[in-house]
Amino acid sequence: MLTGKRVLLIVSGGIAAYKSLELIRRLKEKGAAVRCILTKAGAQFVTPLSLSALSGEKVYGELFDLTDEAEMGHIQLSRDADLLVVAPASADILAKMTQGRADDLASTALLATDKPVLVAPAMNVRMWEHAATQANLATLKARGVATVGPNEGDMACGEYGFGRMAEPAEILAAIEAALNARKGLLGALSGLRALVTSGPTHEPIDPVRYIANRSSGKQGHAIAAALARHGAETTLVSGPSQLPDPPGLKTVHVETAQEMLAACRAALPVEVAVCAAAVADWRAANAAQQKLKKDNGSLAALQLTQNPDILAELSAAGAQRPSLVIGFAAETEKVVEQGRAKLARKGCDWILANDVAPGSATFGGDDNRIHLITAEGVDDWPQMTKVEVAERLCRQIATTLGH
Ligand code: PMT
Repeated sequence: MLTGKRVLLIVSGGIAAYKSLELIRRLKEKGAAVRCILTKAGAQFVTPLSLSALSGEKVYGELFDLTDEAEMGHIQLSRDADLLVVAPASADILAKMTQGRADDLASTALLATDKPVLVAPAMNVRMWEHAATQANLATLKARGVATVGPNEGDMACGEYGFGRMAEPAEILAAIEAALNARKGLLGALSGLRALVTSGPTHEPIDPVRYIANRSSGKQGHAIAAALARHGAETTLVSGPSQLPDPPGLKTVHVETAQEMLAACRAALPVEVAVCAAAVADWRAANAAQQKLKKDNGSLAALQLTQNPDILAELSAAGAQRPSLVIGFAAETEKVVEQGRAKLARKGCDWILANDVAPGSATFGGDDNRIHLITAEGVDDWPQMTKVEVAERLCRQIATTLGH
């Protein structure tokens, strides 16, 4: 049941807007209070009267409507809800959310909110598959926005493929999951200080070349964002990444493993440390000041030296040791076995082992499959998004530290 829950439903422009009427009916049946914002484009497909009749509430449309602002300011509108749902979420509104634009009531409410957001994309298959839409969606997911659908099927425009909005029952289930996932957890980590490492490190060979790896930072950034969302005072130490800094926390940008270690030391003391960065194990012993030439053998004679192990250092930090030190193990074979060995070798409390074999798409992808290894044993998590991994990890941290 959703009794007492308040959902702010944003209906943007798309033929699937008619399904939102059914969604309102189902939400009301479950006991939720539903308030609607109907965008200008959305109003081409459904009327304010239908939304108002089903929700039993006034429907909001214009940002600068004086009556609306006097009754319920746009900030209040988004803060009053437990969850914001955008259904249908057009390509346009996803782009606006990504860019942080606020040129109408819907986009302003989405920018002003500090509440969880769920989007149900609906659009033509080509628009859905376009690199711009996919990049927007990846950014939104990395910021913690939950998604449901789209589904595959025949489209109103006569084409076939992905782009159909999820069915009302699926959106309802996603709403329940989003509300339950956060039930009792938001704010549960307040009072905790957390440190997260994320992304790759770049180890210079000369001014134009460096040693690196395929980490995007998605997993580490998602964990830092989730810790901050749940109230922990969080420092993210990030290697080079294309991702934006997550909101509500301090991000320290570094390039090399040595810089990452220094930034981690400076962030202590903390109660929780999560090392999700793919730190280069080796660096050039003497990075050249000038570009090395391939014809004099200097590149072939490249000498490597071992980098400091940040996870092992944090695990052995004496009085400064965090109460909970969590590492990752990125393996291409015998994932759990090697993860167990890493837990013992590095002296941390938990290892999240994940498979990074070619074809796994763990590096750079949106999903991950974790084996949580502790002194008690191994917990195999199902495949889920990196944001969901972050949420589950936060729950586990809260339980373990009695928060
Ligand atoms: O960034 P994404 O594209 O989202 O991909 C996510 C990920 C695959 C990078 C992430 O899930 C992950 O597995 N991170 C750890 C990658 C790694 O370097 O694993 P490892 O098995 O080599 O190292 C084990 C642990 O020691 C890790 O916690 C690592 O952060 C830490 N380490 C390693 C070497 C080093 N010099 N210092 C460290 O702190």
